Amino acid sequence: MALERTLSIIKPDAVAKNVIGEIYSRFEKAGLKVVAAKMKHLSRKEAEGFYAVHRERPFFNALVEFMTSGPVMIQVLEGENAIAKNRELMGATNPKEAAPGTIRADFADSIDANAVHGSDAPETAAVEIAYFFASTEIFSR
Ligand code: TYD
Repeated sequence: MALERTLSIIKPDAVAKNVIGEIYSRFEKAGLKVVAAKMKHLSRKEAEGFYAVHRERPFFNALVEFMTSGPVMIQVLEGENAIAKNRELMGATNPKEAAPGTIRADFADSIDANAVHGSDAPETAAVEIAYFFASTEIFSR
């Protein structure tokens, strides 16, 4: 298994629900370490840039509106198989389809306000981490 890093975002809905700690606890119990973190209220430009691959999708504007509706908590998680492990903890994109006990099943209300983001592959993880963090802001342990 490979030691990986992945980008995680606790989205505005989950920050507003005051469950940052609950979600961090799930990362830690699964063996994922928080090696970088920042709270940020994304500008429209930052949210559009982050989700640029979805620019042509019908939900793009609503997604950008939502992601800029309040502060988010952004972190880099490190661990064995961190990318797949975090996706497993998150559950399916649509919380109605998310497995019981996953973050989205427990904290998300809808497909557009779905509590968390997680990188889906090594290439996107590298791009997404660099989008928010300089290498000097990441503390490998
Ligand atoms: P996607 O990358 O497909 O999902 P995931 O976050 O699980 O990797 O989509 C990115 C985000 O776009 C998703 O978390 C919520 C939003 N979205 C919608 O609002 N409606 C949709 O139909 C889809 C597919 C995504």
